[in-house]
Order: sequence, then C-alpha cells, then structure tokens
Amino acid sequence: MKASKAWRLGIGDLQIMTVPRHRPPLKRPMWIIVLVSLVSLLLIGAYVYPPRGFVACYMFSSNGCKSFVEWLPPSLSRELTDDEIASRVVIRDILRMTFPETKNAKIAFMFLTPGSLPFERLWDRFFSGHEDRFTVYVHASREKPVHVSRYFINRGIHSDKVVWGTVSMVDAERRLLANALKDPDNQHFVLLSDSCVPLHNFDYVYNYLMDTNISFIDCFEDPGPHGSGRYSKHMLPEVEKKDFRKGAQWFSMKRQHALIVMADSLYYSKFKLYCKPGMEEGRNCYADEHYLPTFFYMIDPQGIANWSVTHVDWSEAKWHPKSYRARDVTYELLKNITSIDETLHVTSDRRREVQIRPCLWNGMQRPCYLFARKFYPEALDNLMQLFSNYTLT
Ligand SMILES: *[C@@H]1O[C@H](CO)[C@@H](O)[C@H](O)[C@H]1NC(C)=O
Ligand SMILES: *[C@@H]1O[C@H](CO)[C@@H](O)[C@H](O)[C@H]1NC(C)=O
Ligand SMILES: *[C@@H]1O[C@H](CO)[C@@H](O)[C@H](O)[C@H]1NC(C)=O
Ligand SMILES: *[C@@H]1O[C@H](CO)[C@@H](O)[C@H](O)[C@H]1NC(C)=O
Repeated sequence: MKASKAWRLGIGDLQIMTVPRHRPPLKRPMWIIVLVSLVSLLLIGAYVYPPRGFVACYMFSSNGCKSFVEWLPPSLSRELTDDEIASRVVIRDILRMTFPETKNAKIAFMFLTPGSLPFERLWDRFFSGHEDRFTVYVHASREKPVHVSRYFINRGIHSDKVVWGTVSMVDAERRLLANALKDPDNQHFVLLSDSCVPLHNFDYVYNYLMDTNISFIDCFEDPGPHGSGRYSKHMLPEVEKKDFRKGAQWFSMKRQHALIVMADSLYYSKFKLYCKPGMEEGRNCYADEHYLPTFFYMIDPQGIANWSVTHVDWSEAKWHPKSYRARDVTYELLKNITSIDETLHVTSDRRREVQIRPCLWNGMQRPCYLFARKFYPEALDNLMQLFSNYTLT
C-alpha cells in the first residue's frame, strides 16, 4: 500500500519537475540520478513494508496469491489471520460444491418455538398431499409440545433453553440446521416461529425457494444506534464495523449456506463473545439479528437476497411488531401482504432513512413473502376459513 502511494507521488514530482520553463532545463545525468533514486526508494519501501494486501499481491508476487484472493470481497485489503485463511478456504470450497441431483429434493421446515404450535392445523392443510417434498423439525425450548397434526408427531429435536436476545437463539438455529442436514434430500432450510403462517399454497412456496440459487437472508446497513451502534471493536480484525449488518432472524437458506453455518466457528464465536445484551456502556447487541446478516454479507453477498420471505409489520415503530388478532385477519389483509413486491428497511439514526428495494427473484420483480408473522392463536379459525381462498395463487 505504502509502496504504491510512494509510486504515484513519484510520478507527480517528476511531472512538476519537467514543467517549469524559467529554470534551466535538467541535464541528462541529473535525470538518471532522479530516476535511479526513485526506483531505489520504491524498492526500499517494498522491503520495509512488505506486500500485505490484495493489491500488493498482484503487484509483487506471482500467481500463487491471486488464485486465493480473487474470490474475496474486493474491500478486503488487509492480511488475513491464520483462522480467517482456514475458514475462508473451507467456505470457498463449500460455495463451489454442487450436490448430486436427488430424485426428491425436499424443503426442511424448521420450527423454533417455546412449546405447542398454535397453527399446526393450518400447516397440516398446507403440507397435505405433498408428503415426499418436505420434512418438519421442531425445536421446543420451554415445554414439550402437544401435537394435533401427523406431520409434527415425533419431529422434535433435542432442544435447549432459549433466552431472548442471547446467542442461545443462534444455537437453537444451528441445532435445527444440523438435524435437518442429516437428510441429504433437504435442499432448502426455512426457519419459522410458532406465530408464523403460510401465505401461499405448497407448490408456490416449493417452486419459489427451489427454482433459485440464493438464500433469503435479511440484510441491510443501519448506521444508527440499533445497527452499527451495537458493533464492538473487540470483533476486530475479522469483523470490521463497515461490514456490520442487521436483519430479521427468520431466514431461508440453501444447502451450501447451511453447511457453511455448520462449518463456521470463527465468526460465530466473535458474535457469541462480543454481541450480547448488556455489553460495555450499557449497550445491547443481539446475535440473532447480526451474526448471519454480517457473516453472509462478508462471505457471499451475491448469494443472498437481502430480504426475508417472512413478512412482519414494523410500521407501528414499537419494540415489538404488529400482531394480528382474529378480527384483523381478513381476505383483504392477506391479499395486501401477498401483493407486496418491495422491501422496506428503516435506519435507526436521526435521519430515519427509508430504504426501499424491489424484490428481485432471478432478476424478475415478484411478491416478496411466503410466510407472515405475528398472529395470535385466536386467528386460527379465520385463517383456516380463508386459507384455500387466499392461497389460490
Ligand atoms: C445462480 O444462477 C445464475 C443463473 O441462474 C448464475 O448466473 C449464477 O452464477 C448462480 N450463482 C451461484 C452462486 O451459483
Ligand atoms: C444483496 O446486497 C449486496 C450488497 O450488500 C449485493 O452485492 C447483492 O447483489 C444483493 N443481492 C441481490 C440478490 O441483489
Ligand atoms: C390494504 O391496503 C390498502 C392500500 O394500501 C389499505 O388502504 C388498506 O387499509 C389495507 N387493508 C388492510 C386490511 O390492511
Ligand atoms: C375469496 O374471498 C373474497 C373475499 O371474501 C371474495 O371476494 C372472492 O370471491 C373469494 N374468491 C374465491 C375464489 O372464492
């Protein structure tokens, strides 16, 4: 870096030296001395500040380092730590993996819930008739659920306590992914909560997720106190503030990305240690809102959609999103949600900047959402009545 700056400075000096007319023109030997000393300065510079970054790699060494760095984000211009190199070679090769075509590719529906699932009957109707194309996993963190649907019986995985806002939420997500990855037919992994409901029929959801090669992970840059304000310098050098991102935890991801989450311990432990409630100066950080958005922004920004396929309404700007009661659940409400085809992110700084982006699916603008939250259990009957009507498309 230093060397290249010195180089540009050198050229500038030379031009200045040739321009002035009133001074006697430089004689030839003088020129050679200037050139030779510039070249020596450059070489000394390169020796004192050995090539570290990615630019320097291209300038000073042979192809060896190019093949490793060419897939790194171009912003990365520092020397990687040993752990980062180890982590990134694994990630690179997983991203390049292709899986043998399986006859019945399935979607794993992973439910993260404290106990019983109030919308099991609705999900039962959603799944019915598509038995060979999905698997269900339930992580019940507080009490053993009572099931009413055959698709949920014996689908519980080993679970542990989940404390809101702590890394135990991410741990539960990883536990669900690990169990769902055991089935090689699972090609896409959807995280859902007990208050989520489907917005479309099964075929629509299946094709939407399977006919694209990206993961739907919510991700945006929030310079405000509830975004980058939660960043801690202890995450350096691996996680820089400029890469810190935010997003809703309700992801859906392809198999490569699920494997990468399993393989990652470096970035995970940074968030486990330095992104938690009650950090220094009374700041709070929530790993479930920052780990995956930041991680995927850093390692595969083109591979994520930057929005979640699970709709939630934050327009009331309170601590918790709008929750729908039975009386709110109408055909009109559901049609409103299913017709949204752009995402909206609002920053938490004074400017309250609203970022609106079209939902591009394989380059086409399409409705963004397949699922929605949060619904009160009392909404079940209305949803059941409307289901076959609003999910016709
Ligand atoms: C995803 O598919 C598109 C075309 O369908 C292709 O251009 C792109 O390279 C693929 N991306 C990955 C990460 O496989
Ligand atoms: C998601 O955002 C990143 C930049 O943050 C961008 O590079 C990427 O193309 C976006 N993904 C899609 C599918 O547009
Ligand atoms: C549906 O959207 C329209 C237009 O934005 C709005 O006027 C109406 O109040 C919405 N209805 C419901 C039930 O959300
Ligand atoms: C669905 O319900 C809406 C509102 O009640 C109604 O206008 C529409 O005709 C229904 N569609 C079908 C196909 O039943």
